[in-house]
Amino acid sequence: MNRSSALPVNGDMSTERTPTLISDLPGPKPLPFLGNLREFSRGGRAHRVMEAWTDQYGLTYRIQLGGSDLIVTADPAHIDTILRNRPDDFQREQRTSATIDEIIGPGVFTAEDDRWRRLRKVATQSLNVAYLRQYFTTINRVTDRLVRQWDALASSGERIDVLNWMMRYTLDVTSGLAMGHDLNSLEDTGDGLHRRIPMIFPAFQRRTRTPVPYWRYVKLPIDRRLDATVREMESLVLARYGEAKMRVAAGEPPSNFLEALVKPIADEPAITDQEVVGNVFTMLVAGEDTTSSTAAWALHFLAEHPEIHAKVRAEADEVVGTQRIPGDPATVGRLKYAEAVVHEVLRVQPVAPIVGAQPKRDQRLTGRDGAELHLDQGQPMILLTSYGARRDTARFPDPDAFRPERWLEGKLPPEALPFTPFGNGPRFCPGRNLAIIEATMVTSVLGRAFELNPDRSGPPVTERLEFASYPTNLYLHATPRG
Ligand code: HEM
Repeated sequence: MNRSSALPVNGDMSTERTPTLISDLPGPKPLPFLGNLREFSRGGRAHRVMEAWTDQYGLTYRIQLGGSDLIVTADPAHIDTILRNRPDDFQREQRTSATIDEIIGPGVFTAEDDRWRRLRKVATQSLNVAYLRQYFTTINRVTDRLVRQWDALASSGERIDVLNWMMRYTLDVTSGLAMGHDLNSLEDTGDGLHRRIPMIFPAFQRRTRTPVPYWRYVKLPIDRRLDATVREMESLVLARYGEAKMRVAAGEPPSNFLEALVKPIADEPAITDQEVVGNVFTMLVAGEDTTSSTAAWALHFLAEHPEIHAKVRAEADEVVGTQRIPGDPATVGRLKYAEAVVHEVLRVQPVAPIVGAQPKRDQRLTGRDGAELHLDQGQPMILLTSYGARRDTARFPDPDAFRPERWLEGKLPPEALPFTPFGNGPRFCPGRNLAIIEATMVTSVLGRAFELNPDRSGPPVTERLEFASYPTNLYLHATPRG
């Protein structure tokens, strides 16, 4: 790059300072062919590896993966500028977007520019507070189902695969919201979609990192299973879409995301069947894996910290009274301590610790320390959003401690830089409120109904990052509350 070609989009035109180029950035030494892949993939916890590299090389550094140089940044100023200047100056990292589109079809997560603006409007409307209030009866019904299932598990004494149950729960909530369909995976004892949808996020990651797209020529068993899952989803969504079109044609107002997609928008090209499938699928996977991981971690921390569990329970007794499940969204809103547990989970075990981005044209960014960084058009970047919340000791004293109280002291707004578990700017997660309601409900309702004890018979609980971050080996024993 010619240094004088740097466009001062986010910097000051008059500055005389020479910007840092990617070639000036420090970083771990790449191996021939492999680059930094070996260390990056170590233990399936790439975000922790990058956090350690940040400690070593500074807030912004470079790594090499799949033959390309990537910039990793945990600098809150860069993260803020990039997230806020989408879709005009930055876009999602295109290799990941292309992989996602190829697997599930194009949707709001991967769309850019005008297409994104249209889809974003529909997604936001389907997840706004007023709509969630109407939808609360479904959340309530699904929560009731979950508690009944756990009643049975508690009396059987068998250990509970927490993540699996949380996935079923969030899938049932999200499929109602996305397409008005009750999957009822909580009561499904067979090989239902709940067993296969969790393979989608790992497939995004695996295929993005595979240098040669072999699956276009030869299918391994894992690819065949993925294709079968996508085809099954496709026929379910298209059947529901046919019904949605008829209801909207009969003059009924849209009552879910799929029905909202039917409504034509002036001057917009009609939405294709492939886009309908891609968008409903996006909602399902974006809403299911993320929230289930957060809720599962919350239950883990209750089991590990009896004093926190006791506070969750005392709050539920006081706020919810004689009912087993909060009857309306306002009651969930009063479960402040359970909600603080959820915020603390998102701080110490963020489910989406990285966001990919790339500039649409040459850019110059100003970092927290005032230094400038030049970015070439298309430069792939990893925004390490998990870093600040783990290392900013001024804002989060004793950052390794799990301490929900820090969110109750009136000092911390739930989300503000450097803590952005739901992203930031125009592409901020539209499902945030739903996710907080679901995870708070689960924490409070299950925490109130059951004694929770960690299962220590297997390997220790840890995490893995496969597009999103999940707990692994997370089993609990539940017994009815004494
Ligand atoms: C704890 C749960 C969740 C977390 C931590 C989470 C986090 C995120 C993050 C970090 C992003 C990227 C934001 C950005 O680029 O600035 C995102 C995007 C998105 N999320 Fe969530 N999410 C969660 C739950 C949900 C739920 C429940 C839904 C819907 C049912 C949802 C739907 C979406 C969609 C559609 C996008 C793409 C938005 C766009 O590109 O405009 N998410 N989420």
